Amino acid sequence: MKAGRIILIGLAAVLLAIVFVGFSLLHNGVSAKATPTAIEVMMARKARHMALPASARSLANPIPATPENLREGMLHFADHCAICHGNDGSCDTMMGSGLYPKPPDLRHEETQKLSDGELFWIIENGVRFTGMPAFSTHHSAPEDSWKLVLFIRHLPQLTTDEKMEMEKYNPKGPDDRKEEQQEDEFLNGSAPARKPEEHHHH
Ligand code: HEC
Repeated sequence: MKAGRIILIGLAAVLLAIVFVGFSLLHNGVSAKATPTAIEVMMARKARHMALPASARSLANPIPATPENLREGMLHFADHCAICHGNDGSCDTMMGSGLYPKPPDLRHEETQKLSDGELFWIIENGVRFTGMPAFSTHHSAPEDSWKLVLFIRHLPQLTTDEKMEMEKYNPKGPDDRKEEQQEDEFLNGSAPARKPEEHHHH
């Protein structure tokens, strides 16, 4: 009787999971253009939270929030994270909005209420089945990720000046460089203003 009941519950759980995945796919094929339903987001966050070892979640940030450390975190974020998350953490970027699941707005409560240890773990290990990459393989030291945690805490108070400074550190392609050079030349008066057809469209 006991064993039979467990098997039944197990079967029901598997069936529910199949129905859930089925609905998820029906809701827009396998296209990443869809937006996950609220229940999917909730379940994914719960699953992610439960999958993290409690010891990792309770780690405290060993890096003090000095202006230098915060600045290093900020420039690192501009270089490695802004392509998906945006300099301001809004995730309102071409990459961010094209992912499934989309990265969340890092300034909002859902992210800010995660512990320092949980943010650190996510940066170091990434999140499987999402676009969030693991960075521990490329960072020279865990301190870099802790500085990023400091910066994520600072995101809700990011100033316009800081955002403008970050833009200088965003990775650039040849088109952006050309545009910048033309702007510099124009500002220095050494070249005529850009012709409209040279303008780079996104
Ligand atoms: C290729 C795109 C991409 C890049 C680059 C990227 N992320 Fe993410 N990030 C994501 C996605 C997608 C998620 C959502 C993961 C999920 O749903 O669990 C995410 C989630 C996160 C979260 C969890 C937020 C939350 O509330 O769930 C943090 C923190 C984070 N990223 C920090 C960073 C940092 C710091 C960097 C740079 C070192 C970075 N990310 C680079 C795509 C990216």
